[in-house]
Amino acid sequence: MTGFYGICCMLVLYLFYQGAVMSLKTNGSFSFFTPVNIFFGRGSRYRIEQITVLKNSVSMVFLYPQFSDTELLSLLKSICKKIVISSEFQENPADQFTKNLAEKALKEKIECIIAIGGGSTIDTAKAVSLRYMQINGKDTTIPVIALPTTAGTGSEVTPYAVLTDKNGKKFFLNDPLLFPKYAVCDPELTLTMPHAVTVFTGIDALCHALEGFFTVKCNFFMEDIVPCACSIISSTLAKVINEPNNIEYRSKMLEASLLAGIILANCGTVIVHSLGYNLTNDFAFVHGKANSVFLPAFMELAFKKNPERAGKVLQYFNNDLHCFLAGLDTAFFIPEEADNQQIKAWSDAAYACYGRQNCIFDITREEISGMVKNCKKSIC
Ligand SMILES: [Fe+2]
Repeated sequence: MTGFYGICCMLVLYLFYQGAVMSLKTNGSFSFFTPVNIFFGRGSRYRIEQITVLKNSVSMVFLYPQFSDTELLSLLKSICKKIVISSEFQENPADQFTKNLAEKALKEKIECIIAIGGGSTIDTAKAVSLRYMQINGKDTTIPVIALPTTAGTGSEVTPYAVLTDKNGKKFFLNDPLLFPKYAVCDPELTLTMPHAVTVFTGIDALCHALEGFFTVKCNFFMEDIVPCACSIISSTLAKVINEPNNIEYRSKMLEASLLAGIILANCGTVIVHSLGYNLTNDFAFVHGKANSVFLPAFMELAFKKNPERAGKVLQYFNNDLHCFLAGLDTAFFIPEEADNQQIKAWSDAAYACYGRQNCIFDITREEISGMVKNCKKSIC
């Protein structure tokens, strides 16, 4: 834990130095906003005792379905005046589900929300906090304390929540009020992640880092953080898949996820996520798996457009991302059942999406179509 803080301090000092130099050279402007208190390290979940807002509070606790850490639950009970546990879980929660929970929170006079789980659990907590504020007519949300049990979504440090509307389509909440107040990142909580979740959340983190690197919002903070996240993921993901109980590897992946989450919060994404949502909506691909289909093709395009910049991150993957994913047994493609009309609709939507405008290089309609077509077959 101390080591990680040391690295963070050195990184921040280094980045401030670099930034000062760069500002003098370019007089460039940028924004950087990550208002989340982060506790990181083995056993850091027990540091929730230090969170003053929790003391004697009435708190709502969202748990992922298989949660079994009774010690942590007992600690929470001893800190708070009352806890209201919600074990109801929805992947990409329905908007109405979060509104119902917000009504319940209002009835219980909830003062604080704790989320222990993956991206969907944390997104639920964040959305409930925002809905609570809206229903209550107040101008501040209830503080959210996020304890991630997966390593990849980065939800614990982002102002986003992915929900599902009444037609079954995914949509985003994007509001600075959605930032959790605390992210308690304890790698021991990620030890229970099943194989597929380890793989696909890890790839999601990789997408956040790589897409962020090609956004117009990528600033000097991110210029160094992205390669750092790529380096960790390239050297750790295969190891953690093979040794899921290795706490050192779990810790490294949680570090990478945290860095990638900060990148996501500050830079947003490009077109990989936009395209991936189609596979989630139309073929029920989980988020990371859906993104993994389009990431190698996007990086090939990025290399064509800006080889020097793409090379800075692709070097960590032997300059071939598709083969890196294939080496993890995670090379996926667009299902055969997807027809041309469907694929055209995905390409059109990606062309119209904000992510394309957020990209540092121009992407034509034809380039997106070509990229998507390449995702129908193996190229490794
Ligand atoms: Fe993502």
